[in-house]
Amino acid sequence: MPLVVELGDDVANGKPVNWYPGEEMNRFIAVFGASGSGKTELLKRVASEVIRHGIPVLIFDFHGDVEVSHVNHVMMSSGFGSSVGINPLSIEGLNPQTHGLSDHRAEIVAMLRRAAPSLSQNQAHLLAEAMRTAYVMVGIEDRDPRTWNLPPPTFAHVQMVLASWSSDPDMKGRRDSINGCAAVLGAIFGHSLFHCPRNLSVSEILGGNWRLNLEHLPESIQVIVVDTVLRLVFRRLRAMGSLPVKFGCDADMYRIFVVIDEAKVIAGGQGYPNKSTRILNVIASEGRKFGMGMLLASQGRGDAFLKTGRSEYPVRIQIRLVE
Ligand SMILES: Nc1ncnc2c1ncn2[C@@H]1O[C@H](COP(=O)(O)OP(=O)(O)O)[C@@H](O)[C@H]1O
Ligand SMILES: [Mg+2]
Repeated sequence: MPLVVELGDDVANGKPVNWYPGEEMNRFIAVFGASGSGKTELLKRVASEVIRHGIPVLIFDFHGDVEVSHVNHVMMSSGFGSSVGINPLSIEGLNPQTHGLSDHRAEIVAMLRRAAPSLSQNQAHLLAEAMRTAYVMVGIEDRDPRTWNLPPPTFAHVQMVLASWSSDPDMKGRRDSINGCAAVLGAIFGHSLFHCPRNLSVSEILGGNWRLNLEHLPESIQVIVVDTVLRLVFRRLRAMGSLPVKFGCDADMYRIFVVIDEAKVIAGGQGYPNKSTRILNVIASEGRKFGMGMLLASQGRGDAFLKTGRSEYPVRIQIRLVE
C-alpha cells in the first residue's frame, strides 16, 4: 500500500497536491505558513495517515493542540499531571563499537550551552569533567562497555560532584567557576521533569505512537527534551543498523516518523545551526538510512534550520488557508 497524503490544492492551478514519500529522495517534509494558515491541521493529517500504515509516530507538541487519535498523550510539566520524565544522561542505545562516552558527554554539554547560553567555556569544561566523575560514581567506566548497562547517573550526581569540588581546598582557585556551573545546572535540572520516578524509554517510544506535550515547559527545558529524545531514538535506530535498500512497501521505509510543530524551538537557539553534530543535522543527513522520517512545521520561510543550506534538507511546502 503506497503511503500518500492529500495535502491540499495548489493555489496557482487548483490541482491537488499529494505527498508520496516513496517517490522522494528524502524522508523529510517541512511545512511553512503564517500563524493560522493550517500547519497544525496538516500535521495531524499526515500523522494520522502515517499511523494508519502502522508506522510509529512521535509528536513534539509545543502548543498542546496536536491532537491525533491512537496516540499516547504524555504531559510533560512540573505539575501533578506529569508522571514520566527524561534523563539526558541516559546512555540507552549507545553503541560502544562506534561511539564512546566522551562523545556522549560532549553532546550533552553542547545541548546545555544551547539551553543555557550563560554557561561559559570554562564552566562547560568543568561540567564535562563533573559528568565524567558522575558516571564513574555509579560504576560506569568509559573503557568498560560491560558497565554501560548499569543505571545511568542523573544530574543530582553531577551536582554532588560539583558540591564536593566547591568545598575542596585544592580547587579553591576554581571555586567561582564551579559555583557558577552548579547554579546554571540547578536552574535547569531543578525541574521536576528530571526527577520523575519513571523515565520514558526508547523501547516504549518505538513500540507505539506518542505525543509529548511540552506546552507547560519553559523553552530551555523544551530544547533539552526534544534534543534528548531525538538523540536517544536516533542512537537506537543507528544501533539497529541500516535499512535494506529495497522495500516491500512504503511503510517499510520507516521505523519511526517524527512530527515537530513550531520547529524553531530546536532549530534556532544558541550555537551553530550548521554544526554537523546538531541532532537535526545528524537526522537530516543520516535519518533516512536508519528509517527515521520527519515532518517539521514552522512559521515564515527563513527559519534557522533552512539557513544551513544542507542538501539533505526537506521537501518544502508553503501553505495558506484559502477562503
Ligand atoms: N484545510 C483546512 N480546511 C479548513 N479549515 C482549516 C484547514 N486547515 C486549518 N483549518 C482551520 O484553520 C484554523 C487554524 O489552523 P491551524 O492548523 O491551527 O493553523 P496553524 O497551526 O498554522 O496556526 C483552525 O481553526 C483549523 O481548524
Ligand atoms: Mg499550529
